[in-house]
This record gives sequence, structure tokens and C-alpha cells, in this order.
Amino acid sequence: MEREFDFDVKGLVDEAREAMMAAYAPYSGYFVGAALLTDEGRIYRGCNIENSSYSPTNCAERTAFFKAVSEGERNFKAIAVVGGNHGDIKGFAAPCGVCRQVMSEFCDVKSFLIILFDGKETSVFTLEELLPLSFGKADMEL
Ligand code: THU
Repeated sequence: MEREFDFDVKGLVDEAREAMMAAYAPYSGYFVGAALLTDEGRIYRGCNIENSSYSPTNCAERTAFFKAVSEGERNFKAIAVVGGNHGDIKGFAAPCGVCRQVMSEFCDVKSFLIILFDGKETSVFTLEELLPLSFGKADMEL
């Protein structure tokens, strides 16, 4: 069944493409952009930020989440993510496992949407589809 959206999917992808332009990726050369939509309709952009010591690198998705959460946001609807070699989008840039886990901390896995764009097609997943059987705070309350 076709999904219906109460927000501008293409507009969110365009925001992610804009965000990608700010990527700081001198080591991998792989640029990623994310645009995170809150329930109230605000959009937080994020890009990947690499480091010469490699492990402090922050993914675009987490940059967007940490910007939003640090501004007091707690309710999120969707995130669009794009990526490509030096910004040339040729395939889907699916969020890494760490980013999926961070999303699960703040989002309802059944309703939060992850929107991917490969330069031609848009593909939409729920967080639960990308992170099945996730571990969350409810598991520690059993
Ligand atoms: N990267 C992201 O920004 N998001 C992901 O979900 C996967 C990977 C970044 C990290 C690094 O700067 C580059 O892509 C190559 O791994």
C-alpha cells in the first residue's frame, strides 16, 4: 500500500542535499547530509564531521539529532538522508547502526520515518524496519 505523508517529502530530501554541502569529510571523501523534521514542522540539518583521529567522526544523522535535542526538541517525525562520493549521489545512504540506535532513543520505532534518496528514487522505511527487535529503555524496566 502506498504511504501517505502529511509533510513535504521532496522538500525534506532537498534540505538533506543542502546539508550535505557542509560535510567535513577530508578523509573518506564521502559526504552525507541529513534533515530531521520535528512534529511541529521544524527542520534541523546535519552533515558528517570527520576527524584526523577517525573515531571522533560524527555521522550526519547524529549531528542533526544532537543539534535538535540540544535545542530542546524531543518529538520527531522523519529524517531524510543522502550521501555520495564528494557529494555525487549514486546510491542510497542508509543510516549506520549507531545512528539507528540514537534514533530509537528519541523516536517511536513504529512511526518515525527514514527517507532515502539515490539521486532518482525515494525510499521510505519506518525505524522498526531498519532496526528490528531494538533495545530501549523499556527493556530495562521489565
Ligand atoms: N556516515 C554518515 O554520516 N552517516 C552514516 O549513517 C554512515 C556513515 C559518514 C561517516 C564518515 O564521515 C563517512 O560517512 C564514511 O563512513
